[in-house]
Amino acid sequence: MEYSRGMTIWSFPTRIVYGAGLALNLADEATRLAMKRPLVVTDPGVAKAGLLDPVLDSLTSAGLDCAAFDGVDGNPVEANIADGAAAYASHGADGIVGLGGGSPLDAAKLIAVRSVTDRSFEELDDAAGGSEHIPADLPPVIAVPTTSGTGSEVGRAAVVTVASTGRKTVIFAPQMLPQVAILDPELCVSMPARVTAATGFDALTHCVEAYWAKGDHPMADAIALEGIRTVATNLPKVVADGSNIAARGMMMKAAMMGAVAFQKGLGACHSLAHPLSSDCGVHHGLANALCLPAVTAFNESAILERVLHVSLLLGGAAKPGACVEALRGLKQSIGLPARLRDVGVKEDQLAALADKAIDDACHQDNPRTCSRDELLGLYRASY
Ligand SMILES: [Fe+2]
Repeated sequence: MEYSRGMTIWSFPTRIVYGAGLALNLADEATRLAMKRPLVVTDPGVAKAGLLDPVLDSLTSAGLDCAAFDGVDGNPVEANIADGAAAYASHGADGIVGLGGGSPLDAAKLIAVRSVTDRSFEELDDAAGGSEHIPADLPPVIAVPTTSGTGSEVGRAAVVTVASTGRKTVIFAPQMLPQVAILDPELCVSMPARVTAATGFDALTHCVEAYWAKGDHPMADAIALEGIRTVATNLPKVVADGSNIAARGMMMKAAMMGAVAFQKGLGACHSLAHPLSSDCGVHHGLANALCLPAVTAFNESAILERVLHVSLLLGGAAKPGACVEALRGLKQSIGLPARLRDVGVKEDQLAALADKAIDDACHQDNPRTCSRDELLGLYRASY
């Protein structure tokens, strides 16, 4: 890497509490943050899976006066946040526990924001410089993930679909980072194999794209490499046996590490994946799995050495083309479909998808610059 003047910021501030069964000791962390009346934010699926009641019981038996809000959609919409903020106010809450996958965790952060400002999400939109409008004194948030993919528990951003525009909007501020993440692998045991595979591939893609992203972040690089090694070893195990708590725990770590690493940046794969989810309803992790081999082949000429590092960690050879084969092999071994055509995407949709992918910011960190036509070529190669 060439030497150049300028400043880079490296930051790893989250308190992370890891261990099986720990979610039931959540009250200790809540008390440490001076919460007396926490609001637990989750979604109906988490409640139905029986994960909410033990959490409420543990808070109550520790003397905390808690309430639950389980009205978060699969992808949070503005109305969910308004409803959650109303629940927060009516309970007289003094802190939030987010329990679930990326959506409830994002919603928890956004309800914290909404509890201190009435500004519209258009005004708060990160792309419009909205970060400066988010007050510093947000209520404390504890993140308790029940999936292993997004890593939202260690992230400072949240995504909400804004009613007036219908757009998925990123809200970002350093103070949106949860004060504590509690990683309890027992909470992931009920996740079905297909969701385990897709979310696990998202975690892998975060690590891979972060390692290949432009920019100088040696610590993120190191975390990403260990995350890749962890996924390669453990994702096939948890897909084969969802009750393997040790492997579930390793995947929770990998998902968290992926999100810590991608503060460095992501890449073209995430730009391709986002329109596949918003326009074709493809699961985010699956969308990454479908596109990452083509993106890898595309990037190889720019960063061959880093592609070979990933290949070796995935059990592949250290030669051109081997990383693509290793990714395809991993995908097949965990039962994910191979190509876009296998998940119902139509060939005549690809041009419109490329028009959206070029407007997505993630590819700006890709090690090889992408034009709209090159992104279309990557969709075609993944088709
Ligand atoms: Fe992702």
